[in-house]
Amino acid sequence: MTTTFSFFLAVIFTVASAQLSPDFYAISCPSALSIIQDAVRTAVSAESRMGASLLRLQFQDYFVNGCDGSVLLDDTEGFTGEKTAVTNVNSIRGFDVVDNIKSRLEEQCPGTVSCADIIAVAALVSCADIIAVAARDSLGGPNWTVQLGRRDSTTASLSDANSDIPSGILDLSDLRSAFAKNGFSAKEMVTLSDLLGQKSVINLRKEYHSSIVVERKSVDHDPPSYMGFRSTGTHSIGQARCFVFRTRIYNEENINPEFAMSLRRNCPSGDDNLAPLKPDNEVFDNNYFKNLVSMKGLLHTDQQLFNNGSTNAQVKAYSLDSASFFADLADVMVKMGNLSPLTGTDGEVRTNCRKINGS
Ligand code: HEM
Repeated sequence: MTTTFSFFLAVIFTVASAQLSPDFYAISCPSALSIIQDAVRTAVSAESRMGASLLRLQFQDYFVNGCDGSVLLDDTEGFTGEKTAVTNVNSIRGFDVVDNIKSRLEEQCPGTVSCADIIAVAALVSCADIIAVAARDSLGGPNWTVQLGRRDSTTASLSDANSDIPSGILDLSDLRSAFAKNGFSAKEMVTLSDLLGQKSVINLRKEYHSSIVVERKSVDHDPPSYMGFRSTGTHSIGQARCFVFRTRIYNEENINPEFAMSLRRNCPSGDDNLAPLKPDNEVFDNNYFKNLVSMKGLLHTDQQLFNNGSTNAQVKAYSLDSASFFADLADVMVKMGNLSPLTGTDGEVRTNCRKINGS
């Protein structure tokens, strides 16, 4: 049964990725990637946290009925989108950056780049730059190719967003179910979790792949269309609100006491007071996993990954071996980008990411 299910998922992902291509805009909008990269760089220079916020936007969109830009749709009188879902309200951000990218693309290449792909590439930039920092500091430049050609949804679902996006209070078994629903193993869930709070985009510089990732088997590469980035400057820091970690720092026992005490100072009240998801996130590294082993996960869900459960061994392994973490990350990000995209004539390419065309 398990084998049949795995085969079924493998078929779905293979078909999905076969419909996307890294060269999708090579003729219709050759400057698309550089326009997006430039806008993301500007946004992160203005506010360092924005890279993390764009990365999160990708996750919050793709886990709800696939990669379709549905999270960007505004509520209207007769339509309720996903922005007010429990995990999203007063929390997800970056919409203005996406709007800005979209209007620049519309000027340059009207009606060709879908909003879902802006999310993919904006988030790629954030993630790739995070990884590029690790490259500078240790490995030498892991990266992945962003598949393109997704189209935008003509609808969104508040109820699916409420049920499909994992919230910060889940225990390990529910987290595993949430990821399994999208075809991710427990190991892949652990790999993705390190992205919480990592730094991101900084002085992006286009380069072609001469890096370690070229030698890796599972990232599809096409030298002429491959885009790589290396970061060389400022930081972007992922954060969480007091509201989402207060229960943990006051009531949970699987937390380092000094760590909990230090967080309480800024979180006695004030739901919107922020704390970094990874306190030492000056560098993209495996410290997230080291923190979990030291019982210093900020969110309840973080610490669930290292709480004497089935993912303990993976967290421990990554905490001791950053190279294996880097090696796994690109594959998981590519896989996330392949979640049920709309392609061909499905959906539409929105001219305004916040609205369905014609509305
Ligand atoms: C295990 C499932 C996950 C849960 C339960 C979860 C939950 C959360 C929560 C509660 C926050 C803080 C939100 C707030 O304070 O309003 C957050 C922030 C964040 N999450 Fe997740 N998350 C998960 C997986 C992921 C994944 C897979 C990614 C990346 C692909 C990601 C990227 C981020 C980032 C970058 C932030 C910081 C955003 C910012 O600073 O604006 N998360 N997450």
